[in-house]
Amino acid sequence: MDERSAGHRVVLITKTVFLLTLFLLCQLGSEFKFRSAAENDIEVGDLPRGEVAGLTDMLSSLQWRLQLPKLSSYCRETPELSLNIIITCPVDKGTPHISKITMDSLALTGIISEHVAALTHLQKLDLSDNTIHGSIPDQIGQLDQLITLDLSKNQLTGTIPTSLGNLRNLQVLNLGQNLLTGKIPPSLGRLSSLQTLSLLENGLSGTLPPELGKLSNLQKLRLPSNNLRGDLPKDYENLKNLTIFGIGGNYLSGPIPTFIAKWVNLYALNLMGNNFEGELPPEIFNTSSLQFLFISDLQTMGFSFPKSANLSSISSLDLSFNNLTGGIPNTLKKLFLSELYLTGNMLNGTLPDWIYSNVKKKGDLAYNEFIFPEPETHKNLPNNSSRINL
Ligand SMILES: *[C@@H]1O[C@H](CO)[C@@H](O)[C@H](O)[C@H]1NC(C)=O
Ligand SMILES: *[C@@H]1O[C@H](CO)[C@@H](O)[C@H](O)[C@H]1NC(C)=O
Ligand SMILES: *[C@@H]1O[C@H](CO)[C@@H](O)[C@H](O)[C@H]1NC(C)=O
Ligand SMILES: *[C@@H]1O[C@H](CO)[C@@H](O)[C@H](O)[C@H]1NC(C)=O
Ligand SMILES: *[C@@H]1O[C@H](CO)[C@@H](O)[C@H](O)[C@H]1NC(C)=O
Ligand SMILES: *[C@@H]1O[C@H](CO)[C@@H](O)[C@H](O)[C@H]1NC(C)=O
Ligand SMILES: *[C@@H]1O[C@H](CO)[C@@H](O)[C@H](O)[C@H]1NC(C)=O
Repeated sequence: MDERSAGHRVVLITKTVFLLTLFLLCQLGSEFKFRSAAENDIEVGDLPRGEVAGLTDMLSSLQWRLQLPKLSSYCRETPELSLNIIITCPVDKGTPHISKITMDSLALTGIISEHVAALTHLQKLDLSDNTIHGSIPDQIGQLDQLITLDLSKNQLTGTIPTSLGNLRNLQVLNLGQNLLTGKIPPSLGRLSSLQTLSLLENGLSGTLPPELGKLSNLQKLRLPSNNLRGDLPKDYENLKNLTIFGIGGNYLSGPIPTFIAKWVNLYALNLMGNNFEGELPPEIFNTSSLQFLFISDLQTMGFSFPKSANLSSISSLDLSFNNLTGGIPNTLKKLFLSELYLTGNMLNGTLPDWIYSNVKKKGDLAYNEFIFPEPETHKNLPNNSSRINL
């Protein structure tokens, strides 16, 4: 269940050594009346001063305009809060700590305070989808309990702090859709727990750090729409847990490595709009996990679909502007595609009529060298085939 919609608050209360009570408090909008700590004869202390100061500073730097209740007793007195801010505070030996802050989509306009570092028990910080500006403070790298850091969809500038490489528990790092510049720090290769790394739609430049090849738990690597250059590092061969690899809209060059076909869990591959050279390794057409395959603009003298192409799970295929030659192999006839884009190649032969029935949503095969069958032999074409552009 979504944390936000439920508004759940988990308060774990202990008295000296014994765990007395675990309240699952459905707080917001519910009629549940909280019993105070005193009534239950339990001792929940105040939030540590450092955390109160850090939170206060962070909220004011973010231009948070609503008044929070007295912060020192925040976790004890189950305050009335705006629906939009979720602060979770588990209690450790009577002392509550701030462990999760979710403040996405609140039109926050300020900056991220460096005093966020005082929130030493923070496991999740989600400030996505606001208009926060300024840079990402180095001090975030001190929050070594962080599991999720999501600062995406803001207007953050400057570079990605090298110190983020110290967040050894981090599983999700999302800095996408900001205005970040500079290189991807090689230190991110130390985030051995990382499962998701999203830096898409920024102004990042330089080459891809080979160090990211050490992230053996990485499942989603999203880097589209930056200014990255150079080859795909050989070390990325080890990223065998990848399910999504997106790097479209950069200036990467060199050959497309065959090792991509060894990422056996991959279901989305986006290499569109780079400067890659040579043909697509034929092994890529044998991957049974791929559902989304987007590769365009290869610099190549031309290559054909392998005769045995067997993209058995494919649902969207875009191989536009790749100098593809020859025909569309009949093996693809067995597929049911949502989208098929083969625009601007040198494909020839008779246009297969299964295209009309097997491409469900949208297709574009214009700018090829297909022979179109005589109208009478094609009388079974649906009249409403405008979704396919020829
Ligand atoms: C992939 O992830 C699983 C657990 O998520 C892990 O056990 C496995 O070692 C990872 N694969 C590689 C190649 O590291
Ligand atoms: C693809 O698979 C087919 C059938 O299993 C096999 O004959 C062919 O050699 C494979 N092609 C490549 C490039 O691996
Ligand atoms: C496509 O192939 C032709 C030769 O067949 C070549 O002249 C042209 O440069 C190629 N285009 C690209 C973008 O590589
Ligand atoms: C295509 O791949 C699927 C899934 O791996 C497999 O079941 C099927 O036999 C393959 N078809 C051919 C013609 O190799
Ligand atoms: C298609 O183009 C290839 C060269 O790319 C050529 O060898 C073949 O004869 C052509 N086929 C047809 C039917 O035009
Ligand atoms: C398309 O429309 C024409 C009449 O305009 C009709 O004769 C033909 O059967 C239709 N074809 C299909 C496949 O519905
Ligand atoms: C096209 O017409 C067929 C038969 O009339 C219909 O089943 C199908 O939903 C139509 N498709 C679209 C995209 O309008």
